[in-house]
Amino acid sequence: MKLTYQGHSCFIVECKGQSIIIDPFLNGNPLAKITPKDVTVNAVLVTHGHGDHLGDAVEISKKNNAPIIGTFELVNYCLAKGATGHAMHIGGGHNFPFGRVKLTIAHHGSSIDTAATGNPCGFLITIDGKTVYHAGDTGLFSDMALIGETNSIDCALVPIGDNFTMGVDDAIRAVGMLKPRIAVPMHYNTFDLIKQDPEAFRRGLAGKQVRVEILKPGETLEV
Ligand code: NI
Ligand code: MN
Repeated sequence: MKLTYQGHSCFIVECKGQSIIIDPFLNGNPLAKITPKDVTVNAVLVTHGHGDHLGDAVEISKKNNAPIIGTFELVNYCLAKGATGHAMHIGGGHNFPFGRVKLTIAHHGSSIDTAATGNPCGFLITIDGKTVYHAGDTGLFSDMALIGETNSIDCALVPIGDNFTMGVDDAIRAVGMLKPRIAVPMHYNTFDLIKQDPEAFRRGLAGKQVRVEILKPGETLEV
């Protein structure tokens, strides 16, 4: 499984000829190395409605005839904009042609412009026996220990930007509960307000049973 980072919380996951994009914030993302036109995917996963996550999801969905996967309220919003979609909700999992997606809780908001788009979520994505956890935008929550106990997480993508989400210290605690094989920081250095040193995240996890991978935008990680 290959993970390519596009800055902020956007990742492309490729495995066995299948490809998905998570939180496709490309237009307006100063870190992104690609535009929506460059994206060829089988599905678009969106954690919540905020513009820095929903991003270009509708355009990418239409261009690829790829479903937007997310919470019921957010997917309904996207359907009304002409996208295709598959609505789910927190705690539910579904087997898609590319793999399994399960929605987890995330403590945050979810709206776009003046539209309320329900609750935010995180994703557990299992493809070909590998599991990636994308936490979405969230604060630290102790149920991360339950997520870690009930899933063998190969790679955890956790926000470290502070202000809108967990900061570095809470993200370090999150990784301690999730117990992934690899931890990747996200949602930082896109804007001044979420400026963080990812090396502080790495240092905080030194000596723990986890490999920290700090990805530059455009960089690919083999999981
Ligand atoms: Ni947000
Ligand atoms: Mn955000």
